Amino acid sequence: MEESVYFLFMSLFVLMGLLTQTGRSHFQPVLSGPSRAYLRSRVHFHCEVPGWTSPLTYELRKDDGYLITTEVNTMVTFSLKVTEESKGKYYCRLTTGGQSNTVHLQVVIPVQGTSVTSEPDPPVIYEREPLVLRCFVSRGTHLSFMWYHNRQEVTSSSSELYRLSESTLTVDRAGEQHAGTYSCTAQNQMDDDTRYSSSRNLEVVVKKFISSPRLTFTVLCDGSDLLANISCAVERGSPPLTFLLLVDEVEIQEKQVSTLTAWFLQPVSVRGNMTAARCKAKTETQLLTSDPVNLAVVPVGGVVEVMVTYLYDADGGVTAARLRCVPGRGTFPAFSWSLNHTSLPAESDSHALAQNAQILITTHITAVTSGYYRCAVRDSFNHNSTWLESSDIHIQKTAGFRVVPMEIVALVFCGFLSMVIVGGTFCLLWNRSSGIETHRSKEVHQTDPIIDSGLPGADVCLETQSIEMKTLVVGLEV
Ligand SMILES: *[C@@H]1O[C@H](CO)[C@@H](O)[C@H](O)[C@H]1NC(C)=O
Ligand SMILES: *[C@@H]1O[C@H](CO)[C@@H](O)[C@H](O)[C@H]1NC(C)=O
Repeated sequence: MEESVYFLFMSLFVLMGLLTQTGRSHFQPVLSGPSRAYLRSRVHFHCEVPGWTSPLTYELRKDDGYLITTEVNTMVTFSLKVTEESKGKYYCRLTTGGQSNTVHLQVVIPVQGTSVTSEPDPPVIYEREPLVLRCFVSRGTHLSFMWYHNRQEVTSSSSELYRLSESTLTVDRAGEQHAGTYSCTAQNQMDDDTRYSSSRNLEVVVKKFISSPRLTFTVLCDGSDLLANISCAVERGSPPLTFLLLVDEVEIQEKQVSTLTAWFLQPVSVRGNMTAARCKAKTETQLLTSDPVNLAVVPVGGVVEVMVTYLYDADGGVTAARLRCVPGRGTFPAFSWSLNHTSLPAESDSHALAQNAQILITTHITAVTSGYYRCAVRDSFNHNSTWLESSDIHIQKTAGFRVVPMEIVALVFCGFLSMVIVGGTFCLLWNRSSGIETHRSKEVHQTDPIIDSGLPGADVCLETQSIEMKTLVVGLEV
């Protein structure tokens, strides 16, 4: 009897436990709703007991159990207006017991008033200096930022040029490539209904350091006065620049320019005393000086030579010629050419002029281009000066010769070598037997008039000959 009562109690106990468990799982409500919502928007939370079809009383509660509202239905929707205080953990409860999962809501403030600030301000920097740009918003939370340089989005793949983190863009060492317009766009991180705010463009200027200035000059006539037009130029740098002209180490003139070059007029005289000119280029951070240049003006004079270089075809025939006009002296020569006493224009089908017309290059030598060439030189700055003329140079087509095969060249060379050896040996023997005679012949040589190779004309000729020989060798190799 005792045993059967005990068994009955045990069975009841187990049954009740089972009933309670099924009931609890059956009345477990489920809450769904957004995790982020804009301030002053409306959010909707849905609560239901899956599979239950009769009305129930649902409560929407927050954080520590604060009751927001109650609704009665089989399935309920709570609609809330989002305020600053709306963020927190939400859950729903049944009055009969049973509590839902929690939904964590964050309040997002829509972005507005985006602008870019820079350091330094204004954003004008020199190469290799750092730059920091910040994307500033007057309002907004849960933001992500995008940067644009010259309207191209700056991505993490261009990270060698920039560093991006949160709302800042950093350039550690600015280069030319960093100059241009920058803007940023701030965006609320929302799955749908994304809001953007973009800044205005900010112009970043990256100034280049200047290179050393270079001074050059030309000469011009102003009535009867001779003036040097002195140019001072830097190859690289960012304007504005200040150029200073120094003559014999004394500052003469100063010019501010928005380019990379400036020019000054300075009186000079032919055969004047040696005056050295320099120029300086100046920026806020740099002051560089050019090498000195002598403001010497030597008028054209002496003998006018024409140096000829022939151009050969594969067969070794002359096809074209390059004529270079060289006056004995003169720092600012002007050149003019004639063919058969007819002056040649600057350009035609049969010739071309180069290097201020100092060089004339014929096209294929034909009946038209063959003849007597002559060049004339005078001072470029004085149109009254007389032309100094060269002698006539006869240019004509020569027949080509066949390219000698390498074997024959080798054979001829070997023959020549053997002759030299035999001849040398013979001479040596001959010298031994008659030493006195050689001595005499040496004396005779010394009394001969020495050819003055110090003359520029003679040098020029030698030079030309060597060029011709080189060209010939090249022709052979071809
Ligand atoms: C001087 O030379 C510069 C170029 O180097 C030229 O632009 C300028 O016009 C010249 N000035 C005069 C007066 O000829
Ligand atoms: C060139 O000649 C003209 C008149 O013949 C003269 O007025 C001028 O001064 C001369 N120029 C030079 C540079 O000699």
